[in-house]
Order: sequence, then C-alpha cells, then structure tokens
Amino acid sequence: MQFSELGLSPKVLGAVEKAGFATPTPIQAGAIPPALARKDVLGLAQTGSGKTAAFVLPMLSLLETGRARARIPRTLILEPTRELAAQVQEAFERIGQQHRLTVALLIGGVSFDDQAAKIDRGADVVIATPGRLLDHFERGKLLLTGVEMLVIDEADRMLDMGFIPDIERICKLLPFTRQTLFFSATMPPEIQRITNQFLHAPVRVEVSPPSSTAATIEQKLVKAPSDAKAKREALRQLLRSQTNVKNAIVFANRKTTVALLEVSLKRHGFNAAALHGDMDQSARLRTLASFRAGEVTYLIASDVAARGLDIPEVSHVFNFDVPIHAEDYVHRVGRTGRAGREGHAFMLATHAEAKYVKAIEQLIRKSIPLDGSAAPVEDVHADGSDAPREEKSRRRRGGKSRGDRPQAESAPPREESSREEQPREAKRRDEKPREEKRDDRPREARPRHEPQQQRRKEPRDRRHSPSGDVPDSDGFHAGNMPAFLSRPVRNASN
Ligand SMILES: Nc1ncnc2c1ncn2[C@@H]1O[C@H](COP(=O)(O)OP(=O)(O)OP(=O)(O)O)[C@@H](O)[C@H]1O
Ligand SMILES: [Mg+2]
Repeated sequence: MQFSELGLSPKVLGAVEKAGFATPTPIQAGAIPPALARKDVLGLAQTGSGKTAAFVLPMLSLLETGRARARIPRTLILEPTRELAAQVQEAFERIGQQHRLTVALLIGGVSFDDQAAKIDRGADVVIATPGRLLDHFERGKLLLTGVEMLVIDEADRMLDMGFIPDIERICKLLPFTRQTLFFSATMPPEIQRITNQFLHAPVRVEVSPPSSTAATIEQKLVKAPSDAKAKREALRQLLRSQTNVKNAIVFANRKTTVALLEVSLKRHGFNAAALHGDMDQSARLRTLASFRAGEVTYLIASDVAARGLDIPEVSHVFNFDVPIHAEDYVHRVGRTGRAGREGHAFMLATHAEAKYVKAIEQLIRKSIPLDGSAAPVEDVHADGSDAPREEKSRRRRGGKSRGDRPQAESAPPREESSREEQPREAKRRDEKPREEKRDDRPREARPRHEPQQQRRKEPRDRRHSPSGDVPDSDGFHAGNMPAFLSRPVRNASN
C-alpha cells in the first residue's frame, strides 16, 4: 500500500514525503480512507504505530478548503496530558508546514491570554486538554459550533472516569454534523460500550490484537522484595545490569514514589529527573525537554508520561511498580520500541503485586518471562492473595463490568488520572453551582452525541489520606458513573 492510494490531496502527499514517511503504517492505511470520506472512525493500533499521522493527514486534507474565523476553530484534537498535546501540536506543525494553518495549543499551567489571543485571530486547529478548553469556552473566548472534525486521542483514557464529564460537555458544544475520530492502543470493553454515545456508525479499524504490545519490545519480569528500601536497591541493581541504556523511563504508581526515587537515584549517581502531575508546568516542560535532548538519562515518571509520548531514543522502560490498571502497562512499555525500533521493558514485581502481573498477562495475552539474570527474591507468578488489606478494600474502578475483561481483583483508581485538568472540578465548585451547567435546551435541540442520561455531577470523592499519597479518585462513582455501571459494586467497602 502506498500513501498515494489513500485519497490524500497532492499537497498532503507532498507533506508526507517531506516528513520522510515512505509507506503508510497499517493504521494509517486503514483509517485515512474512511476519515477522508467524512466517516467516524474508531482506530485501535499498538503504541508507536503512527496513529498521530492517521488523524493529522486527513485533517490537513479537510482544512485545505475554507478558512478559520475568529474564535471559531474548525477542528479540535483532545489529548489527556499537556505534554502529549504539545507533542501533537509539534507533529501537526511539522507535517503541515506547507499548509500554513493556525494551530492553537490550549493546555493548563501556561498563560491563558496568549492562547486566547491566538484563537481570537482564528485557529484552524485547536489541540487541547479538556479542562483548559472549557475554561476558554466559559470565559467566552471560544465557540465550538464551527468544529467540523473532532479527534479524541487516547480515547479510552478520555472516556475514563476523570475526564468523561468534561468530554460530554465538550461534545454537547460541538455541531451535530461533525466528524469524530477516536484513537488508542487500548480499549477496555466497558469503555468501548460508551463510545457509541460519541461516534456515529463508526468504521472500526483494528490492526493488531486488542491491547497487544509491540513485538519489538522485549519484556521481562524481575522479582522484587516488598520492603521499600530493598525494592529501591533492586531497582538500582537492575539499572546497573542494563549497560545498553540510551534513555530510559522509570515508572512508579505514585507521585510520592516518583519524587523519592528521583532523590534516591540521584544520590546513587544516576542522571535522573522526575516528571509528575504535582510539579509546576515549567518544571514539567524543562524536565521533558532535557530528557528529549538526552541531557537526562533516567526520567522517573508517573502515568502522566505513560501515554503517547514519542521519544525515539527511549531504549528502556522500567516499571518500579506494577501498574494497577493493566492497560497502563501497555502504554508504559509502549514508550520504547516505537515505529519498529527495538525496545526493552523490565518490571519489578513483589509477591503482593502478582495479581496485577496476572491481569496484565491476560490483557496482553502472553506471559512476561522472568529475567534470568536477576537474583530471585519472591515468586511473583504465584497467587498474590496475601496482598495488603488496604489495597483489597479500595473501590474498583470499572464496577461490575470489570468482570468481562482481565483485570486484577481490586484495582484502585489511577493516581495521575485527569488530575491534569482536575483542578477544574474544585474551581467549578467555588465559582458556581454545578447545576447551572446543566443543559436545559429542549431534547430535539441537543446535539447528536447527547449522552443518554444526564449524570449528577458532584464533588469528586478524593479520599485523601493525611499524607496525600493516595491515588486521586479516578473511579466511576455516584457522580459520574454511566448508567450501565451504576449497579451496586460487589466487595466495595469504601
Ligand atoms: N508511515 C510512517 N513511516 C515511518 N514512520 C512513521 C510513519 N508514521 C508515523 N511514523 C513515526 O512513528 C512514530 C510513532 O508514531 P505515533 O506517535 O503517531 O504513534 P502512536 O501510534 O500514536 O503511539 P501511542 O499509542 O504511543 O500514542 C513517530 O515518531 C512517527 O513520526
Ligand atoms: Mg499517539
């Protein structure tokens, strides 16, 4: 298959050539023709398989006719993190150089006024995180009634609990006739069910088994001790044992662990820097830029760095903790081995984490071999039924429907979640009652993608511990739970 067979305009084909793409990847070959035919698309393909260009190229074609008007963007791309939104903006501008389009990046943590000025001049494309986009809308800086194409990248994440109220609100502000494209490397069944609210007769393009990891990523499991200090020592041993590291990301489940690991690894002579959602935006950008430039070898990160980041030099991913949500594993290890490159992914696992390992292996449909070179500590493949009480008692994320996919018994909510844009929740509570946000148009006046049921939007149950080191509530709860999940959750003790 050649790019020239996909129906792209001559100008876009020129851009593809300039970008150095010789042939389309399978997701590009599958998704571009229906996207050009103005159909809705649900595109599922492995990490690093070129999903970004699969929506950027048809968007460029679409934007060749017509022009942007002040405050009324023509296309919208939603991303779950600021870093990813910035990366997609960079990719869009690189590929679309010759198109001379105006691209506005609307993300939190940076100047609002510069962004407003840009939309005011007329933006062809808005690339945004949901919270900041809604802030602009609420301040009257932006109208979404001119959006012809909506792309939701990392769609399962965006429809996960933290984000869904904002996504629903945004979709209500868009025209009925818009085209919608969803992309992700993972799509849990319970999330897939709610995609129907947003997509109209979508063309489903799935180019590899669901949630599979790229074949070029060598994956290994390393038994680790439960004691925190000993586990950090096990990590250091592992890092030292890998002599071919170019750039590596070390993932931990909690922001406090990320911060602790940064200090500890630096003290032991590793060239490391941290990235997590509680850092201020300028520090986040600085850290990521240093990592991209190769000035930092080990990026210690929370799941804020798990999705979408495309840094070709990342040769290794180390999971200090086993991710609690199996999909996060697929995205974390997908930061290496991109676009056919070789990658290495190691995961430390304690006995208590065995159940999460099992869920991951079921999701990716293969077992992760034990690293033969590491000293055996505990049997991580054994049943982890002696997991700490605290973890057992935490509420499930996906409620009842979790039963229909492989997942660890009692996965608590994600820590990083939509924390990104989550301050919105708090802000809204301060500013005005949520009820005011209700849509009171007559039913027939509502857009096509109206959610079937208006959800009660209540303050998030954050369940902070005194130390603050408890994952933010990212679980479906009374305030945001879709109807099909709102049945009582078994074993939920909090
Ligand atoms: N047709 C192509 N030929 C060669 N390289 C390509 C092609 N399309 C995209 N790439 C490159 O592949 C890399 C990965 O692409 P991209 O970031 O879009 O992956 P992705 O599928 O979105 O992954 P993730 O699920 O992690 O977000 C990028 O560096 C991109 O430039
Ligand atoms: Mg991507």
